[in-house]
Amino acid sequence: MGKTSRDKRDIYYRLAKENKWRARSAFKLMQIDDEFQILKGVRRAVDLCAAPGSWSQVLSKRIYEEDNESKIVAIDLQPMSPIPGVIQLQGDITSMDTANKVIEHFSGEKADIVICDGAPDVTGIHSLDEYMQAELILAAFNIT
Ligand SMILES: C[S@@+](CC[C@H](N)C(=O)[O-])C[C@H]1O[C@@H](n2cnc3c(N)ncnc32)[C@H](O)[C@@H]1O
Repeated sequence: MGKTSRDKRDIYYRLAKENKWRARSAFKLMQIDDEFQILKGVRRAVDLCAAPGSWSQVLSKRIYEEDNESKIVAIDLQPMSPIPGVIQLQGDITSMDTANKVIEHFSGEKADIVICDGAPDVTGIHSLDEYMQAELILAAFNIT
């Protein structure tokens, strides 16, 4: 499918491009926050599996722009371009070493929220893909 037909088909894809969100998933987090106010009062946040960074962009806009003293830590296997107010780490969230690095950034304090949009590279072998997805969810709970 060519780019033009995809642009026409997917409204969120187009909106993300127009509004400089790095991925259309930004709209998922904004809709959840608009409905349930999950970011209200949050000053310390963790974004697990954050690349290319649209959820971190939302955190930056809704938390950091409100309070420059807030702390946002984002982590992914892949590197990301900088985002204002977001500390970026590169690593595997299933490793204890990475978990400790995230935790160290909060200097003994607890984060107010941990979000995770992790997705493994799919192999097409459903049982393996499901296992890898479950491993990411478990790692996210462990860090939380
Ligand atoms: C759907 S994308 C996340 C999109 C992101 N929420 C955004 O809004 O830009 C899934 C991400 O999970 C990351 N990922 C997969 N396994 C990981 C792992 N073990 N540790 C860290 N990141 C992982 C991938 O590198 C990928 O960037």
